[in-house]
Amino acid sequence: MKPHLILIGYMGSGKSTLGCAVSYPLRQCFIDTDKWIESKEGLTVSEIFAAHGEAYFRQRETDCLKAMFREREPRVLALGGGTPLRAENRELMKKLGFTVYLKAEPETIYERLKGDTTRPLLQCDNPQERIRQMIAERDPIYREAADFILQVDDWNLKRLINELQEAYGHETAGN
Ligand code: S3P
Repeated sequence: MKPHLILIGYMGSGKSTLGCAVSYPLRQCFIDTDKWIESKEGLTVSEIFAAHGEAYFRQRETDCLKAMFREREPRVLALGGGTPLRAENRELMKKLGFTVYLKAEPETIYERLKGDTTRPLLQCDNPQERIRQMIAERDPIYREAADFILQVDDWNLKRLINELQEAYGHETAGN
């Protein structure tokens, strides 16, 4: 089977928006793993963090990746921003598909997520500084996990869809 197209990157990098948009021309169903977990648990991500803690949520992310091996058609998957942090998840991702890192600068992310209340990790006194620190920590990990990097600060949806399709098309040529 053709590999799944897997999108990773920091919160607010546009994984769900771009993933959903590219799923139409690719004719592949789109799965947002946060939404997948929310529907299994019957709770939002914030409620899962509050009721069970972050470690519980992280385990659900690994469960979700494992469940993706049962999909019978190639999908477009948007992963939660923290999913690639576990080495086990990165191994699963390698087997599951072609991974694209949507890379954005901290300033871009801050502008996009200002006032957002759905990300429990950013409900703090200084979200701008938190974003900067977390991106500095995570960027090397996202790079390591990625087969391809797409810079998304300049948000031109049509161009990004084309670039993504081209990268994935090269990967899957002949499949
Ligand atoms: C998280 C990212 C969120 C969600 C949770 C934790 C993270 O997903 O999984 O709030 O650790 O980066 P998005 O990247 O879709 O916002």
